[in-house]
Amino acid sequence: MIAHIVGNRPQFIKLAPLYRELQNRNYEQCIIHSGQHYDTNLSEIFFKELDIPSPCINLMVGSGTHAEITSGAMLGLEKELIRIAPDLVIIYGDTDTTLAGALVASKLNIPIAHVEGGARSHHKENPEECNRIVADHLSDILFCPDKISVEYAKAEGMGEKSFWTGDIMYDTFLSVASKKDKEAGEEIILMTWHRQENTESRARMESIIRFIQRLEGKIVCPMHPRTKKCLKSFGLWEDIQSINNMNIIEPVGYLEMISLMQTARLIVTDSGGVSKESFFAGAKCLLMVDLDLWDDLVKTGWIFKVDPESRESVDMAITFADNAARTDEVSYPQYYGDGHAAEKMVNLLEKYSLI
Ligand code: UD1
Ligand code: UDP
Repeated sequence: MIAHIVGNRPQFIKLAPLYRELQNRNYEQCIIHSGQHYDTNLSEIFFKELDIPSPCINLMVGSGTHAEITSGAMLGLEKELIRIAPDLVIIYGDTDTTLAGALVASKLNIPIAHVEGGARSHHKENPEECNRIVADHLSDILFCPDKISVEYAKAEGMGEKSFWTGDIMYDTFLSVASKKDKEAGEEIILMTWHRQENTESRARMESIIRFIQRLEGKIVCPMHPRTKKCLKSFGLWEDIQSINNMNIIEPVGYLEMISLMQTARLIVTDSGGVSKESFFAGAKCLLMVDLDLWDDLVKTGWIFKVDPESRESVDMAITFADNAARTDEVSYPQYYGDGHAAEKMVNLLEKYSLI
């Protein structure tokens, strides 16, 4: 039996192709949902749209501080992993749910596979970086989305257990994008933001609002509940709502998100997942956080990092935004693989007798 531990929106998106591939090869599986994300449009909608079976267990951890989420998930996971005694645990990405899964499974001596292993932001104050480091070191095999992640894993002495599989989010993207015709129509600027680094301080949020005010063209922003909550608590909700060219909507499902990306000429985000998907979808990206996750895309100029608190950086970002045009035929190398990451992951699990 294989247990998948998930709890956050991007993890459901990473789970879908791997679950399907294991199912095709007749493995018994169980999805354990920590309950870190619980709103319908942050959780259930992805299970429906991506045809993932409902979790066998939901630990209903809910929201809280890092320690509350991590410890709550650990308590529930320990009980359930002892009960179901899986042969392998699969963890995804870099959230508090990932960390809890790694800590509990390793102490129960259950082998761990980490999807999106090796990725590093190189900023220790980034909460996800702590989760990545611990999760990678406790895992038995790392599935790295790009070659740079393999290099980072090697530099930390984890070369032997690290493999470049390509990015599983690309598998999911292709399964959806290939089904839909690109819509003609007005090109938009798509915006998402939710990182702790961009929501915890009022001053930072004010600079983000000032930056948005300088963007030209229709902006569509499916807003994470955390961002909305913080804007309201800082008394900035009216300020952002008064930006005429900005349409703030509820978080959308994956199908609508990909559709929005495919009509965007520019994506402004602080999301790890969305900044990488911008490349799959052919829309250039302004990354509104100082994290070095997808180095190749920064080096080729696909992603431009902007610091909303620096006038000079914002000026350069506005020039980048003004020049950004859709690139439907992306001719760069396949940094993130060929869309068959799930297949490669299961091949590796079989090869190393982890399943
Ligand atoms: C978490 C992850 C982050 C990931 C993101 C994906 C950690 C440390 N952070 O951030 O790495 O990029 O998920 O989206 O694990 N909330 C709701 N409804 C929900 C879930 C959350 O309203 O269903 C609100 C709550 O007010 C909560 C806040 O959002 O306090 C933050 O939620 P949390 O899960 O702590 O962090 P995310 O910002 O979602
Ligand atoms: N996403 C979505 N609807 C939204 C916003 C994001 O389906 O309203 C998808 C997005 O396409 C990507 C994933 O959620 O696949 C990214 O999640 P998020 O930005 O929350 O987390 P991160 O990748 O930063 O950890």
